[in-house]
Amino acid sequence: MSAHYPVARPRRLRRTPALRRMVAGTRLHPADLILPMFVKEGITEPQPVASMPGVVQHTRDSLRKAAHEAAAAGVGGLILFGIPAVKDARGSAADDPDGILQKALRDVTAEVGDATVVMADTCLDEFTDHGHCGILTPSGDVDNDLTLERYASIAVAQAAAGSQMVAPSGMMDGQVGVIRAALDGAGYAHVPILAYTAKYASAFYGPFRDAAECAPQFGDRSTHQQDPAGPLEEALREVRLDLAEGADVVMVKPALAYLDVITRFRDEVDVPVAAYQVSGEYAMVEAAAANGWVDRERMILESLVAIKRAGADLILTYWATEVARRL
Ligand code: PBG
Repeated sequence: MSAHYPVARPRRLRRTPALRRMVAGTRLHPADLILPMFVKEGITEPQPVASMPGVVQHTRDSLRKAAHEAAAAGVGGLILFGIPAVKDARGSAADDPDGILQKALRDVTAEVGDATVVMADTCLDEFTDHGHCGILTPSGDVDNDLTLERYASIAVAQAAAGSQMVAPSGMMDGQVGVIRAALDGAGYAHVPILAYTAKYASAFYGPFRDAAECAPQFGDRSTHQQDPAGPLEEALREVRLDLAEGADVVMVKPALAYLDVITRFRDEVDVPVAAYQVSGEYAMVEAAAANGWVDRERMILESLVAIKRAGADLILTYWATEVARRL
């Protein structure tokens, strides 16, 4: 009998749910999850986002309510995106104290207090009429340094409106340093920066551009976002620069197609690593589930576990409230 039967039997620890739970190496917690939320100026009813079933563009009222629900479920943070009624070439609404995002930040911080961390996406694409993340040169390029001045002003406006963290997402060179200096100079030295550090020029952002109404009117973002085929060292260079400029949390985006980058960041840095499970990752699962092709609940948890196992401490996900309730 014995010789050819295995002594080592990995199946022993898989036999019961209690055994599997006890030895699990990856545990999701509601506090790890950050919910991205959209608020649109001038609407009276929440507007469904067709390519993201279950996600809406909020009114100020519905945003407050959804923020309350997320906080009650124990979600770690909220990140707000604003869609203004009027857009122009310089994205003037982005740093207007009465702009929609600043109003929403005041509403939501008043609503949730310290129950969760309220943050803002710091970028221009939702606010510009051309849909680009910055100020354009006459030839239609994004002007890095003129854009930095705008980001600095936006970050200060967001902090003044109560944002407890700012998250520059435009991939301009030097954005973290300029924002850090502006915040410090305006009395917001305590406001941390969550840097979109390795943000790839990704097809997975497609549905977001409907949700945030920010599809570029011409061209794309490949002169500033990273090339998916670029060397891993490029992401490591970005993370070194962001940390030197004062980033408090560094992010990889998208998540599932870039798990290797998440792992490298976790190995290299001594600050929290975040990952953004983006709109296209959400839409793929929802669309397949709507067709009855996959087990939606299991797929959601499995994808989040994978992102966490790869090394993410924090995960931005449109499923944050639902998952927090299930955990
Ligand atoms: C830029 C921004 C984008 C996303 C988050 N911040 C869009 C882009 O870079 O084109 C995408 C998020 C998602 O796809 O869920 N403000």
